[in-house]
Amino acid sequence: MPHGAPFVLLLLLPWGSHCTTDGSNTCPVRWEEPAERTGQSCQRSCSQDRDCSGRRQCLCDEDCGLSCVTPGRSCPWPVRIENAETRLTQASRSFGALLEVTCQPGFKMANGQGVALSRCQGDRKWSLTAQCERDLIPSSFCNPPPETANGFHSGASYRTGGEVRYKCKRGYQLDGSDTIRCQENQEWSGPAPTCRPVFCPPPGDIAEGYLVAVEKTQYRAGELVYYLCKRNYLLDGSNRVTCQGNGTWSPRPFCRARCTVPAQRSRVLYQGRKLWIQEIPEGQVQHGETVTFYCRSQNQTQSQTCSYPAPSRCFDGLLPLPACYDEPTWLQYNLFPQRVVSEIHPC
Ligand SMILES: *[C@@H]1O[C@H](CO)[C@@H](O)[C@H](O)[C@H]1NC(C)=O
Ligand SMILES: *[C@@H]1O[C@H](CO)[C@@H](O)[C@H](O)[C@H]1NC(C)=O
Repeated sequence: MPHGAPFVLLLLLPWGSHCTTDGSNTCPVRWEEPAERTGQSCQRSCSQDRDCSGRRQCLCDEDCGLSCVTPGRSCPWPVRIENAETRLTQASRSFGALLEVTCQPGFKMANGQGVALSRCQGDRKWSLTAQCERDLIPSSFCNPPPETANGFHSGASYRTGGEVRYKCKRGYQLDGSDTIRCQENQEWSGPAPTCRPVFCPPPGDIAEGYLVAVEKTQYRAGELVYYLCKRNYLLDGSNRVTCQGNGTWSPRPFCRARCTVPAQRSRVLYQGRKLWIQEIPEGQVQHGETVTFYCRSQNQTQSQTCSYPAPSRCFDGLLPLPACYDEPTWLQYNLFPQRVVSEIHPC
């Protein structure tokens, strides 16, 4: 690539070198203290080959200006430069040859660049390039992260070290790692996870109820089915059941049975009224309702007995009688109705 090398040289060494090795007048005059700046020791100054002895020629040696150098002598190879990789740009490593110095990943030169060229000088040393220092503010980026069907990613940083997190649309489940990281080499740490559709199995029946749904072998996440209860059963829970994002159904409701009030010969407090059992329709109360019975006080110190309330709650067909409740006998109920426990004065 005959045109490539000078082009790179101009890009990377903007301060340029107008010097040519043929001794033309574009070579700069000798810099007074070049060694201090570049570590270069200058050879004898000259204006033409005749000024030089032996096989030396009068050639342009960068900041040293026109100097007596031996063009065939080489600079050392291989070269080790801290935190950098080196590569010869051509087979030769003699006077004027160029060496490409590339900082290792995570390192940069003070001018922010990662590559510089070094020249084989007349003193048979490679010219010094800026040192590769740890890149404290990484400025390299990854390409936009890969997309995934039925999902999306969040996380704004595509810088090295930055992370993006994937989520799937509703009804899809993520397979693989949900996070990928932009690595030092400006590649993402892995492929995008995939989003696969989620299905629920058939939701099944409930006791004493009906399922209202299109019959299928599997249901998509987000699909709804409904439940109804048989007559006289009360729905406990939501009648709407959803196929959830993890492939399970939301809780199914229960159908709760009514309770038969397990007493006959006294009044009870029900729905705010004191009623004989016969006054309660069908003698039954709904699941969850409270029935308050009356018990006789057993306090011996009192001259007269009295009644006190004892509530009980209907749960799915079962209304327990309070332990203190005594059902009046047929005789008590028919002959002395005013003396049954629910009718005597309260304590
Ligand atoms: C499925 O998701 C629901 C709601 O997000 C949750 O309550 C339930 O515990 C999950 N079940 C399983 C098996 O992960
Ligand atoms: C019995 O009744 C008396 C008088 O009313 C009262 O002081 C006492 O606490 C009662 N005892 C019980 C066990 O209810």
